[in-house]
Amino acid sequence: LRGRSLSVTSLSGLPQWEVEELPIEDLLLFEVAWEVTNKVGGIYTVIQTKAKTTADEWGDNYFLIGPYFEHNMKTQVEQCEPVNDAVRRAMDSMNKHGCQVHFGRWLIEGSPYVVLFDIGYSAWNLDRWKGDLWEACSVGIPYHDREANDMLIFGSLTAWFLKEVTDNADGKHVIAQFHEWQAGTGLILSRARKLPIATIFTTHATLLGRYLCAANIDFYNHLDKFNIDKEAGERQIYHRYCMERASVHCAHVFTTVSEITAIEAEHMLKRKPDVVTPNGLNVKKFSAVHEFQNLHAMYKARIQDFVRGHFYGYKTKFHLDFDLEKTLFLFIAGRYEFSNKGADIFLEALSRLNFLLRVHKSDVTVVVFFIMPAKTNNFNVETLKGQAVRKQLWDIAHSVKEKFGKKLYDALLRGEIPDMDNILDRDDITIMKRAIFSTQRQSLPPVTTHNMIDDSTDPILSTIRRIGLFNSRTDRVKVILHPEFLSSTSPLLPMDYEEFVRGCHLGVFPSYYEPWGYTPAECTVMGIPSVTTNLSGFGCFMQEHVADPTAYGIYIVDRRFRSPDDSCNQLTQFLYGFCKQSRRQRIIQRNRTERLSDLLDWRYLGRYYQHARYLTLSRAFPDKFHMEPTSPPTTEGFKYPRPSSVPPSPSGSQVSSPQSSDVEDEEEDARYNEEEEAERDRLNIKSPFSPGRVPRGKKKLHGEYKN
Ligand code: UDP
Ligand code: G6P
Ligand code: GLC
Repeated sequence: LRGRSLSVTSLSGLPQWEVEELPIEDLLLFEVAWEVTNKVGGIYTVIQTKAKTTADEWGDNYFLIGPYFEHNMKTQVEQCEPVNDAVRRAMDSMNKHGCQVHFGRWLIEGSPYVVLFDIGYSAWNLDRWKGDLWEACSVGIPYHDREANDMLIFGSLTAWFLKEVTDNADGKHVIAQFHEWQAGTGLILSRARKLPIATIFTTHATLLGRYLCAANIDFYNHLDKFNIDKEAGERQIYHRYCMERASVHCAHVFTTVSEITAIEAEHMLKRKPDVVTPNGLNVKKFSAVHEFQNLHAMYKARIQDFVRGHFYGYKTKFHLDFDLEKTLFLFIAGRYEFSNKGADIFLEALSRLNFLLRVHKSDVTVVVFFIMPAKTNNFNVETLKGQAVRKQLWDIAHSVKEKFGKKLYDALLRGEIPDMDNILDRDDITIMKRAIFSTQRQSLPPVTTHNMIDDSTDPILSTIRRIGLFNSRTDRVKVILHPEFLSSTSPLLPMDYEEFVRGCHLGVFPSYYEPWGYTPAECTVMGIPSVTTNLSGFGCFMQEHVADPTAYGIYIVDRRFRSPDDSCNQLTQFLYGFCKQSRRQRIIQRNRTERLSDLLDWRYLGRYYQHARYLTLSRAFPDKFHMEPTSPPTTEGFKYPRPSSVPPSPSGSQVSSPQSSDVEDEEEDARYNEEEEAERDRLNIKSPFSPGRVPRGKKKLHGEYKN
């Protein structure tokens, strides 16, 4: 059986082998992750977006296991009693023995069941559990590593829970999928105790890969040369590394999220992944193709308002002197890993872009947002003041408008055209003058929105100081560091992340270390172009499946085969080219970007998870499940063809664009959207991912169930 299993599944075409459905009613599926209901980064996105397709398939037999945090429970979970007998008994037994296990429905699409363990409440058991782990695999965890200790408690509780479940499972087979090293001890202990479960371990990165890249080591050219034990030891993560590696080797099936991380894992963790499971999204289609364009315009207006406030102050030497209609919003977002996420090369490219825009006397202004959480001491006064000033001007404009309107109305009722010179009285003029005076400022618009705790050593701020991008009037590139994730309840920029992305023009994610990289993928399904790299799982995936990614608004920077300086130049050229596009070209490009959404939909990418589940069943319970020799997966790759309409480059499009400059009006915009609909129909792109190819509701799986 093992011999027949697939090795790393090629991404160059989806497997098409004939298969049957799993007998879901006889199975229980548990997915374990530290980020269940607990947002840290992209793993949360994996779990949260996949929940709908998995819950649709598995119904009440699907459970997510995560840590309990009071705030998360209160805001995201509706508490309820488990209907499933095995789960209820397992919880009762653990609660009776001094644990606190919570249960409920996670209020996200698919509303999956969640089992949440209170880690602090069970900390009294830590020493015993350290002993258990030592017995199981001779890995010791130092007392000062709080995070690793928490993970051991989490893992021990998971293994305990799974033991109770299997004791009460009533003949049902159990699959447990563990995400990342944080959940791994649950897997190690379950296997050491020989629990009858089929296990999958999914890694979303390797610990060593992340650390080595962050240390600016030429990682990809030395993959096979590292002395990994030594490297882990020198970075004081040897015990974590052992937890990770033991999890990988204990699992029946090992998976990861991209080909590039599969290769990395082979070197860093010494096991080749059995399946690559690319990350998808829960793609929602609007009934009208251009609806997402309207959303862009709507949210852009909100960002423009924020920018008006941030750069307030007409007629002073620090004043807002740029035209918002000719301003582009760029952003980078994610966990604050300065060089891994490519913030370093991005800043350098912005400095070069600033130079190019200035020497070419461009009238375009670029406002760049860095959304990366860092330690702060709340918003800074200058930033709050900017928004207050804007609000005051807005209020005054409104009250004057009201008065004006009333006088105008009265005059019209009297059958007169009012005397325009006297329609505003002296007081109104005075109030307006005072308001304008109050917008004078004595300093440049701030680079950061918050008081940074490590201001002097912060890598983004230090680089900004070095390259001198201080938001001065002459700069065509302005920078705003927002060191906190976005939230619709923020008093400063009240938008959630999705709204913000929709309102921007380009997401820039020039990562050096990025196993997948959700941020550009999210841009794509929202129809917002983005920059990624050939070192990110997403970038490689797009390179493989799209004939001309740039034409579709996916700019892939080569960080693998070029020097850092050349990569930076390439990025600068992408940015400069983007700035030269007309509005029409941007609209067309957004339409194309959005077309790629199908490629990233869980309804299709979820099949790799299904495959991994079947594979683990066939390995753990070979008498019950076996892999039939199936027709091999097709290897010829599917590629989205080059778009046939207007060429993407600004110079090229002038031929077919009636107006190459920004002469725009709403009617014309609407026409581009109609053209887009026509092009979609004409191309009639049927990808192997298109709904037409896989009958909905008829899940195809990989193998045959024998009962
Ligand atoms: N994100 C967010 N709010 C923000 C900025 C980012 O929720 O203000 C999310 C974003 O939607 C994405 C995740 O953070 O899903 C980052 O995932 P990615 O895979 O790009 O990187 P990771 O942090 O996992 O390395
Ligand atoms: C969308 C809207 C248009 C708007 C355009 C602005 O396409 O439907 O009405 O003109 O966005 O695009 P821009 O790239 O300039 O923000
Ligand atoms: C990790 C990786 C990121 C990936 C995410 C989800 O956090 O850093 O690239 O997108 O996991 O798989």
